[in-house]
Amino acid sequence: MSLPAPIHIALIGLPGSGKTTLGRILARNLKIPFVDADATFEQHVGTSIRAFFEQNGENAFRELEAELLLKILSRETPSLIATGGGVILRADNRQNLKKYSTVFYLKAQPEDIAQRMHNDSARPLMQGFDPAQRLRDLLQIRAPLYEQTAHYTVAGSRKASAQIARKMMMQIELGGFLKSPPSH
Ligand code: S3P
Repeated sequence: MSLPAPIHIALIGLPGSGKTTLGRILARNLKIPFVDADATFEQHVGTSIRAFFEQNGENAFRELEAELLLKILSRETPSLIATGGGVILRADNRQNLKKYSTVFYLKAQPEDIAQRMHNDSARPLMQGFDPAQRLRDLLQIRAPLYEQTAHYTVAGSRKASAQIARKMMMQIELGGFLKSPPSH
């Protein structure tokens, strides 16, 4: 597959960090399509991610997640991509994201996310755990991976999505990211 120049913008971060909410706002402002990687996955398999995990396990999920990510990144017109929180676990995903998109890490605090995550029945990795503790554990493993995949880190919380979006729009417009992404 021949891949185009890095024209996309991708959001990475913990589950519940606001990637989807923020992604929708940014895509609307930038007038480019919004692609939710989790929704793309569910459409592809015709079932929920939770059901897919239960039937096939996490490894099968990660395999297909990587395949679909590459398909999304290989589109030749710009899009705003909200990724699944665990996408950075695989080295190939990290490389592809970094190469074919400008990556923003939404760095949110586990406690802040957990407050808004009561009774989350959709996320398989959150089931049966205290949300704040689970998110702290995930972050301990993932923080360096989020950091090394991101071109930019955006500190924020879900309650301030509109404000964060405004700041990011300025960064995106100043950087001209949709046309010429950073070289590092
Ligand atoms: C996951 C996060 C989910 C989804 C899947 C696995 C993870 O996406 O991809 O349940 O490993 O953190 P969100 O970050 O949108 O919740």
